[in-house]
Amino acid sequence: MKNKKFYELSVEERLAWLEKETGLARETLNALCGQAGLTPESADHMIENVLGTFALPLGIAQNFLVNGREVLVPMAIEEPSVVAAASYMAKLARAGGGFKASSDAPEMIGQMQILDLDDISIAKIALESHKVELIEAASDIDPLLKKLGGGPREIVVREIQESAIGPFLVLHLIMDVRDAMGANTINTALERLTPLVERISGGRVLLRILSNLADRRLARASCTIPVEALAFGEYSGEEVRDRVIEAWSFADADPYRAATHNKGIMNGVDAVVIATGNDWRAVEAGAHAYAAHSGRYTSLSRWTKGKNGELVGELEMPMAVGTVGGATRVHPSAAAALQLMNVKSSRELSEVIVSVGLAQNLGALRALATEGIQRGHMALHARQVATAAGAPTDMVSAIAEQMVSEGRVHIDRALEILNEWRTK
Ligand code: MEV
Repeated sequence: MKNKKFYELSVEERLAWLEKETGLARETLNALCGQAGLTPESADHMIENVLGTFALPLGIAQNFLVNGREVLVPMAIEEPSVVAAASYMAKLARAGGGFKASSDAPEMIGQMQILDLDDISIAKIALESHKVELIEAASDIDPLLKKLGGGPREIVVREIQESAIGPFLVLHLIMDVRDAMGANTINTALERLTPLVERISGGRVLLRILSNLADRRLARASCTIPVEALAFGEYSGEEVRDRVIEAWSFADADPYRAATHNKGIMNGVDAVVIATGNDWRAVEAGAHAYAAHSGRYTSLSRWTKGKNGELVGELEMPMAVGTVGGATRVHPSAAAALQLMNVKSSRELSEVIVSVGLAQNLGALRALATEGIQRGHMALHARQVATAAGAPTDMVSAIAEQMVSEGRVHIDRALEILNEWRTK
């Protein structure tokens, strides 16, 4: 175990290493990897019509240095190569000091749709002149949040001039939700404020719901990789850097490519969002809406050449994640994931997540712009195919290797090899 890399260890050895390295109790680690995770009984309290639970592989990305802090990153994902790529790119980023990350205050936006107004301009002025009263009313709704330093921050009134039903008003309630994702806090506040908003505006409030375009809650990460660290195989560091920038330019210019490019970022982002029990649909919705905020869907990241010829990567996106509330504490694996990462706040969690997204993006661009992704991908894909063909655990690697060496990675071939071996 001593001289082995993390990925070379058995599952049990990895757990033993983590126990020693992090000081976390074996119970916590067992919860993290599902051995003592969510029970059907707890699941039954979380959603409706429960039959049981659904498992995903949980891997640990290595080498992450975020704002100078070492972080072991739990990633729940079914796709091969993602955890390996994140770990490897985090290693490259380390050569330039790791990831520098920052985040906005955890402010979420709640929306109210106000209809049936005789004059929307007059109603808008009325609401704007009652902002203080509205904020005061909102701040009394959640005393605990207030005690923690959160609460309403701003009221914004917007006119929607063109819609299928004609003009109407939208009121935005901006609230600092501290370490929660904030959907419940926001939706409760909106519902409570409804009578007051109707009285002030003279209109009828229809929808009251959080916006997933959380553009007041952005997180950003950057990394600077010296060219020497980028060289591999027949590629010089300069070549890799220039190819990554060329590949990024494609996503920057073309929405068809940007969708796939951003999907690669979300491979990393979602895996951590899921492992920590957060709402990945909310994060996905925010990411793609933000990618189109200029009016044209584009890349969430940016790759450029730095002053000293290094490769500079940046990623900025909404990150509505919590470290309290929702499933983050109820799901034992999510609670253990947060413990492993040792994040102290939702902001710190969001900063780690964008760093993983940036690493994942580099992994994809570097592979696509050099040797292509299939080579690395195939080895792992072959293991999945062998497993799907019913290969016993101790035969999966050998069957996968044979399929890769033959260049025939598909289920029929896996079944044939299995049969050949069984009849030997
Ligand atoms: C595959 O899951 C993700 C990639 O398609 C991302 C990309 O193309 O940048 C490899």
